[in-house]
Amino acid sequence: MCGLSYVLMSVFKVSMKVIFHVMAFLLPYSSCLLFLVILPQPFPATAESYKHITLGLSLTASNNNDSWRSPSGEFAFGFQQVGDDGFLLAIWFNKLPEKTIVWSANRNNLAQRGDEVKLMEDGQLVLNDRKGKQIWRADTAGSRVAYAAMLDTGNFVLARHDSVNVWESFLQPTDTLLPTQTFRQGSKLVAGYSTMNHSTGRYQFTLQFDGNLVLYTLAFPLDSVNSPYWSSETVGNGFLLSFNQSGNIYLAAKNGSILVMLSSDPPPTRDFYHVAILEYDGVFRHYVYPKSMNPRVPGWPMRWSPLTSSFIPPNICTSIQEKNGCGACGFNSYCNLGIDQRPKCSCPPGYTFLDSDDVMKGCKQDFVSQNCEEAPQETELFYFEQKENTDWPLSDSEHFRIVTEEWCRKACLSDCFCVVAIFRDGDCWKKKIPLSNGRFDPSVGGKALIKIRKDNSTLNPADDDVPKNKSRSTIIIIKSLLVVSSVSLNFLFILKTLLDVLRFGYGKTKKLYIEPTDPEVKDEDQMVLAYWAYDCYKDGEVGLLVEADEDAVLDMKRVVKFVMIAIWCIQEDPSLRPTMKKVTQMMEGTVEVSAPPDPSSFISSIESF
Ligand SMILES: *[C@@H]1O[C@H](CO)[C@@H](O)[C@H](O)[C@H]1NC(C)=O
Ligand SMILES: *[C@@H]1O[C@H](CO)[C@@H](O)[C@H](O)[C@H]1NC(C)=O
Ligand SMILES: *[C@@H]1O[C@H](CO)[C@@H](O)[C@H](O)[C@H]1NC(C)=O
Ligand SMILES: *[C@@H]1O[C@H](CO)[C@@H](O)[C@H](O)[C@H]1NC(C)=O
Repeated sequence: MCGLSYVLMSVFKVSMKVIFHVMAFLLPYSSCLLFLVILPQPFPATAESYKHITLGLSLTASNNNDSWRSPSGEFAFGFQQVGDDGFLLAIWFNKLPEKTIVWSANRNNLAQRGDEVKLMEDGQLVLNDRKGKQIWRADTAGSRVAYAAMLDTGNFVLARHDSVNVWESFLQPTDTLLPTQTFRQGSKLVAGYSTMNHSTGRYQFTLQFDGNLVLYTLAFPLDSVNSPYWSSETVGNGFLLSFNQSGNIYLAAKNGSILVMLSSDPPPTRDFYHVAILEYDGVFRHYVYPKSMNPRVPGWPMRWSPLTSSFIPPNICTSIQEKNGCGACGFNSYCNLGIDQRPKCSCPPGYTFLDSDDVMKGCKQDFVSQNCEEAPQETELFYFEQKENTDWPLSDSEHFRIVTEEWCRKACLSDCFCVVAIFRDGDCWKKKIPLSNGRFDPSVGGKALIKIRKDNSTLNPADDDVPKNKSRSTIIIIKSLLVVSSVSLNFLFILKTLLDVLRFGYGKTKKLYIEPTDPEVKDEDQMVLAYWAYDCYKDGEVGLLVEADEDAVLDMKRVVKFVMIAIWCIQEDPSLRPTMKKVTQMMEGTVEVSAPPDPSSFISSIESF
């Protein structure tokens, strides 16, 4: 029921109006907010530059920023702290505030504070823990090393007396290539796990001995290859991948002729730092960073900018189609290319991320699956959300030709194994769990019909325990009294955060005004109101909350969405409340907002004692 007292209704209208305006206004900026939060912190260093690192020298993993720098100071070799207390033995751009890492020795076996890398008297370069146990060593194949050097190209070398290099970081790349670095047959790059986690991830880029340059998915967590998703198609011809002094990246034949140009017309290396990385999302990208505030080629921001024409493959979402494995995004999710040409993983309606901090882990159903014993009777309890241009091409259970959409819908509704039906030009495919290789792309065509349970209260069994004959209003008042303090605080915090951000960042461009529509309004206890609001939402009468607001009425879909987000945010059970990041994603529309449960069901379960 949706019977609000007039006063409380007005207060809620005002609150919703504020939320609606704030959210609508913040929407275009939400990704920037997210970005601000994850900006890396600078680490000023205090190292000396060495021409030669002599035998016996060592570095200790700590925060003293000790490193071996190249003569120009542009590159440094030493320890970089990653995460809480792990250290990577790495090479990085030392003049950039980000200290971008271009190579590391121990990505899957981090060092701890106090561990030491040493160029031993016998010429071996070893990384040992404090107990003397070896974590990593450079394999010099028994050659006698006389010194080490960090070169201005970013190459760290171990050399003999006669200056012949016996070991080079350039020949043991991790996920990054630098200008002048060559990539021979048999070389490979392995992507990191995520932007923040450098351990080996899910993709490999390799110049095979047969001359083909190939991108593969890996059978994570193992490093064996799964399936190729891009290749240069140069079997028999490819000889050397070159990132030359001018910043061009190309695959050459043995006679030097260029077979495939991977990146051309880059800004000059004299004025820009260059890197090419196989990134955690499986795309090989060429980035540049101006060396000074006033480069001779103006218009570049002081950060790493990707050369978008160089992305390999251009569309990772549609490139990966693997029989074993989940595709470019996790199981039960789908991938689409954002305007920045980067893949974005989303959950279909009725599904949410297993781990919102690691979307590659895929999505889970938010409702109880169809009961197979009663599937025919249960068809009434399910409906379809429709999504154009969406498909999970390798999750078919059945395929029917020359049928109508109506037929396709009925067939899926009465089949407990069917979670999605794809309908395209008279063809009907039933899809089974887990959905894999999901993509949302204009090239797909047709539509996906995603099957969802109508009444998803079954998500929270406690709901069923509420005695139906009790006076609803008494229950609400008791619940409200019980939870009002903690939840109000939560709600106010969210509102305050939104307001703070607005004031801090954009206050000058747009004013926010709160204009009470009812002079009697004094009490603003949003919690009670939100419970009432939940009832309106449940009864499909969200319109009553915003009837006076023309903008909102014009965009009811969005209002309903914001009311749903608001109800998720005030869930009494803290484990149900979304993170701020998730809220942002829901507002942006990258994550579908699933129907929220009764915010007070947690209390209901206590009540039923
Ligand atoms: C090392 O860098 C950190 C982080 O910027 C800084 O706080 C610290 O003072 C530096 N340590 C030394 C010994 O310079
Ligand atoms: C990085 O990801 C791997 C794979 O999930 C995980 O095992 C490892 O603990 C993560 N490392 C850090 C520092 O979070
Ligand atoms: C160089 O090698 C490529 C492929 O191996 C071949 O197609 C091309 O004709 C050769 N060019 C010359 C000048 O020999
Ligand atoms: C790098 O490659 C490009 C494309 O082949 C070529 O035009 C340029 O001269 C090369 N630069 C150097 C320094 O070899």
